[in-house]
Amino acid sequence: MSSAREHWGSRTGFILAAAGSAVGLGNIWKYPSMAGQHGGAAFTLVYLLCILIVGLPILLAELSIGRSTQLNPVGAFKKLASNPRWAWVGFMGVASAFMILSFYSVVGGWTLKYTFVALTGGFNQLAADSTAATNYFTDFHTAPIAPLFWHLIFIGLCVFIIGRGVKKGIEQWSKVLMPVLLVILVILVIRGVTLDGAKAGLDFLFKPRWSDLDASGIAMALGHSFFTISLGMGTMITYGSYLHQESDLMKAGLWVVFLDTLIALLAGVAIFTAVFAQGQNPAEGPGLIFIVLPTLFPNIPGGFIFAPLFFFLLFVAALTSAISILEVVIAYNIDEKGWSRKRATYIFGGIVTMSGALVSLSLGDFNILAPLGITYFDFLDWTTSKYMLPLGGLLTAIFVIVKWGVPNYSREVFSKSFKDRVPDFAVTIVLIISALVVAFIILKEMIEIFI
Ligand code: TRP
Repeated sequence: MSSAREHWGSRTGFILAAAGSAVGLGNIWKYPSMAGQHGGAAFTLVYLLCILIVGLPILLAELSIGRSTQLNPVGAFKKLASNPRWAWVGFMGVASAFMILSFYSVVGGWTLKYTFVALTGGFNQLAADSTAATNYFTDFHTAPIAPLFWHLIFIGLCVFIIGRGVKKGIEQWSKVLMPVLLVILVILVIRGVTLDGAKAGLDFLFKPRWSDLDASGIAMALGHSFFTISLGMGTMITYGSYLHQESDLMKAGLWVVFLDTLIALLAGVAIFTAVFAQGQNPAEGPGLIFIVLPTLFPNIPGGFIFAPLFFFLLFVAALTSAISILEVVIAYNIDEKGWSRKRATYIFGGIVTMSGALVSLSLGDFNILAPLGITYFDFLDWTTSKYMLPLGGLLTAIFVIVKWGVPNYSREVFSKSFKDRVPDFAVTIVLIISALVVAFIILKEMIEIFI
């Protein structure tokens, strides 16, 4: 075990790094397309409820487990549980991290490529031509070599930042990149709401259409509330482990949830105002970002500036999240295997590059899971976000209730004065509700496999 653990330099630095982890492709790519398909504000309201009732208690559980043990997820469960079986929850987290990063970094590469294309005026030929834009995206992301090149650059940047350490790498870069992200987003929102016809986009996002919200939309909102605040695989345990033993975690947790939600909503405003101003289909799903938006930008006044800004925003969001995912694997190897940070970073950067290459190739002609009728990309995405992350979150909540103990949790989460006012049984009930909701969703997903 390494004796001198690294720590965050300041509370703001930690909040920005944790918000950087939370704000990612989930906010800008997944959330708007899901909200678009499942009832606009109806989806958003359910998602907000899920975040507050289910997400926040588990976020605080992860942060407090990390801070109190000062260890990676595997080490943390081992230390608190006294029973080595619980370490499996940590292992599952490290495995999820590895699986998620393999496809996340491929999409990260796409954002870089699209930033570059937008900068060099490449969207002009796609103006208002969705067939051309679809072909362009398909040709690019299913090609054997080009996406690998961008993926490699993306992983290279993660390795560079992580290799410099917690304070000089993750924290420093988050302190620069998060404000940049917010400024770009505000610029894009202002552009969006000043377009003719923007109001229809705002109505779409903020007026609930309950009839469009079905059971699968609700399950998605819950799954997403996990994904978007980076829960279920020990990211927040790891980030919490770099905190000093001061101040209550509640405030930090609320900040992370607030920033994450704010940025998702702003991204939704920026995107849907543009989509509606040009009479496009808001329910495009995942193709919304990489297919619909490129056809819109050339017709927006100043689009040649806003297009690269948008894709750069997406890239920044992806990068600060990707480093938090890689850090889980790195922290595990440093703490448990005694590796140096540099060594762990290079080796796992290399392994993720290779696994990501398989993911990227699976979208084209080389899909190792072809016999199962599913791409390797979707396999990793589905198994992690539908099963492994919720299961990780569920077990974390159960762990706090039955093993670690609610009083220990409360001591970490609340400041002294506040703790006296929040009885343990109330905290226990919140955690139980949270665990039950997650268990219900996991069951629902499992039942769906069999029917
Ligand atoms: N929260 C990020 C997003 O919204 C993705 C992410 C980073 C993540 N770390 C994670 C998801 C850990 C699940 C678990 O894009």
